Amino acid sequence: MARRAIYPGSFDPLTNGHVDIIERACHIFDEVIVAILINPDKHPMFTVAERIEMLKEVTGARASQVVIETFEGLLVEYARQRQAHAIIRGVRSIKDYEYELPMVLMNRRLNPQVETVFLIASEENSYVSSSLIKEVFLLGGSIEGLVPHSVIERMKEKLI
Ligand code: PNS
Repeated sequence: MARRAIYPGSFDPLTNGHVDIIERACHIFDEVIVAILINPDKHPMFTVAERIEMLKEVTGARASQVVIETFEGLLVEYARQRQAHAIIRGVRSIKDYEYELPMVLMNRRLNPQVETVFLIASEENSYVSSSLIKEVFLLGGSIEGLVPHSVIERMKEKLI
């Protein structure tokens, strides 16, 4: 049976840290579903449709293994529906671990069938977050090399 993992997140925008985690997940799992959370309470820079497009552009070379989807509601319920064996989360620091641990334990309580797997991005991506990328970009700083080139182009379009 194919091993399927879900990599959930906001991906607003997709960073090289996310791409790094997707690559690593592909080495462990047969299929990786990158799942964008639809959260009406948030005010994202990119629409869900734009985020799907960017993810498809960047993961295109792995289209046979990486699937881009969206989900609403409980992550573990979505994992159950999609018959996923694992939830992937990228962890950069102790701070991330402290944020993730209660979610892991709650998710395990809600659905003991699905295991959360923490993956560590490479050192050069270890400080990159979507929120930091947006802040630096909107203040005029360079984000070259920290997000895929196509994402930078789309971020520039947002300024016009
Ligand atoms: O990229 P993010 O914003 O850190 O991702 C957070 C995400 C999507 C993994 C988390 O908010 C989530 O799982 N939301 C779905 C709702 C849910 O299941 N909440 C209970 C978590 S214990």
